[in-house]
Amino acid sequence: MKEKLQKIREQAMKQIQSAESLNTLNDVRVAILGKKGELTSVLKGMKDVAPEDRPKVGQLVNETREEIERVLEQAKKKMEALVREEKLKAEVIDVTLPSKKNRVGHRHPNTIALEEVERIFIGMGYEVVEGPEIEYDLYNFEKLNIPDGHPAKDEQDTFYINKEIVLRTQTSPCQARVMEQGKLPIRMIAPGRVFRSDEVDATHSPSFHQVEGLVVDKNITFADLKGTLEEFAKELFGPDTKTKFRPHHFPFTEPSAEVDVSCFKCGGKGCRFCKGSGWIEILGCGMVHPHVLEMCGIDPEQYTGFAFGMGLERIALLKYEIDDMRLLYENDIRFLGQF
Ligand code: DAH
Repeated sequence: MKEKLQKIREQAMKQIQSAESLNTLNDVRVAILGKKGELTSVLKGMKDVAPEDRPKVGQLVNETREEIERVLEQAKKKMEALVREEKLKAEVIDVTLPSKKNRVGHRHPNTIALEEVERIFIGMGYEVVEGPEIEYDLYNFEKLNIPDGHPAKDEQDTFYINKEIVLRTQTSPCQARVMEQGKLPIRMIAPGRVFRSDEVDATHSPSFHQVEGLVVDKNITFADLKGTLEEFAKELFGPDTKTKFRPHHFPFTEPSAEVDVSCFKCGGKGCRFCKGSGWIEILGCGMVHPHVLEMCGIDPEQYTGFAFGMGLERIALLKYEIDDMRLLYENDIRFLGQF
């Protein structure tokens, strides 16, 4: 019995020493100390040992077991340390390598211009609203006093989804949508994307942006329109900016006007920027046509209003002195990063 134990011990030590992984060590433990292990089977054979020898043999078995367990534990610790060290070595970070830079994007000139326009009108108590880019012909034309066959419809040719639905040619349908909700008074601006079937050139694009404005209340007059837009122009282009209202025609406003601002480049003397005239056109406007108010459920005897609409790209091009609209759509970060 003693020899058998001695043999198990020696064999265990050899196996432990030659083990090269934690898994092998575990296999050794199971093979010797496990339920069906060699040492366990010795214990099971105790019934064949003479009763007076049993305490001694028992003690011997326990000693052997304890020793193997101790050595196993030591080997395991050593192995774990080795594994950890190897992992650390493999994961070493080379702090001298060049880093990957996170490049932060930049706001688009259109966005900067829009935020400026919004800031000015919010300061005057306006609300910012939005309408759909895919719009009913009814809102884009009919409710704005542009019935089928009206010449204004030719000037704003667009993309038709079907006979009733178009890509909106202007943000003006937002006027009708807001008026129809029936909440008065109204003071809103509506920025957004619009579409026309135009060829691309330095000043045209089939998709561009407008900002619409609408005020409806009791006793609103053309003086309110003038005062508001004069203030807006001064805020946007500087305090010395002069404003000129030229008579014009829009189907949904009466009277209507186009607004020019004095050239902020030459102060009105005439330069390349304003093509020698000293003035730059920035928007269209007018008093909301009584028939439009009526079609949108507002009594024109009680309420009046004014509206205006401007091209956002035009504002951005002017403000940042960009001479080709196409630059705004190419998204070249070297260009965009300048504003
Ligand atoms: N929607 C017009 C256009 O695209 C611009 C415009 C003119 C808007 C007069 C208005 C307005 O609200 O009153 O040409």
